[in-house]
Formats: sequence, structure tokens, C-alpha cells
Amino acid sequence: MNDLATAPTSTKVTREQLDDLWPEIDWIERPTLREAVAKTWLLAFERGPLTPEDLKTIPFTLLVANCPTTFMEHKRCVVHIANESAKAMQVFMGNALKIDLDTVIAGAILADVGKLLEYEIKGGKSQQSERGELLRHPFTGVALALECGVPDAVCHIIAAHAAEGDLVKRSTEAFIVHHADFMAYLPFKNPNNLKK
Ligand SMILES: [Fe+2]
Repeated sequence: MNDLATAPTSTKVTREQLDDLWPEIDWIERPTLREAVAKTWLLAFERGPLTPEDLKTIPFTLLVANCPTTFMEHKRCVVHIANESAKAMQVFMGNALKIDLDTVIAGAILADVGKLLEYEIKGGKSQQSERGELLRHPFTGVALALECGVPDAVCHIIAAHAAEGDLVKRSTEAFIVHHADFMAYLPFKNPNNLKK
């Protein structure tokens, strides 16, 4: 099992490979936040067994049998939905709600980064690892992000994006990412929604 605190930090994935995987990182305007997000993903690749190629091929969830959509298709879709939703809320509710677009984008990009420590590949298929059973990705995601200097407002989104977050008083940015994530997940739970 990888040890989160003492795993080696040699580079398995380059920054160029990461930018190819995640072009949306470039949408983050504040340079320190952009670099902290990139650093978190690079660290997750160091600590976990999955590669960028795996993320382009494995299903995005283990909770839907034969899920036809990949991890990266789902994650990038969530970032795009969250970004557009945040902009619409800024236009119509910006006088009432504080909405930081960089925080939304960073949180959406990092929401599932902990899955790199939750999953393992066995027999060509992804499955939950021993660590993943004990610590789902919202927990390991926060641990990785804090280590890389990601601010608390973004760690809050990682922590609260999934069902565990239903017990948390979510920020507006966390609500946006949570609903974007579920909008791009729940339709798969009804087999009638899938193209034949
Ligand atoms: Fe998630």
C-alpha cells in the first residue's frame, strides 16, 4: 500500500502530459492556485497506480454496471457544467451571492483527484483498493490538495462534493460543483437514458 506521507516524489507524469489531459487547468486565472491544482494532480499520479491513459479508458464510476463513459469524459464534463453554471449565477445572482470562478474551476478539477488513491487496476479492470474502502476519494483528495498548498475554500469543495458533503454547510461554489457532478452522474443510473 502506498504511504501518503512518505511515498517517493519522482516525476511519473510530466506537466505537458497533465496539460494535455486537463486543458481546463489553464482556465484558472490566479497563478498560485493554477500551480497548486497542477501540483496536486501530479502528486496523485506519483502516489497512485493509475496513468493518464487509464483515466481516458476506465469508466468514471464503479456504481454503474458497464458504464460507457470514461473517467476523463465525465470529469471534464463536470468542469464545463460547473464553469457555465457559475457564470450564469454570477450574471443573475451576482448582486446577492459571492461566487469565485477560480474556486469553482479548481474545485471541479480536483473533486475526484483522490480517486487515484481509491482505485486500482486488477485483471484489466478498475476496482476499489484497500485504501479506497477505508478512505473514499473526498478524504484522500483533501489530503493531497492540502499538501500542495490548495486553499481551504477549494479543499471544502473536494470534501463536500459527494454524498459525504450532505452533512456539510456547502459554500455556493461547493453547491455548484456538487450539482454539476451529480447532473453528469445520475442519468446513468436509469438504463432507459442510455443510447442503445
Ligand atoms: Fe467524486
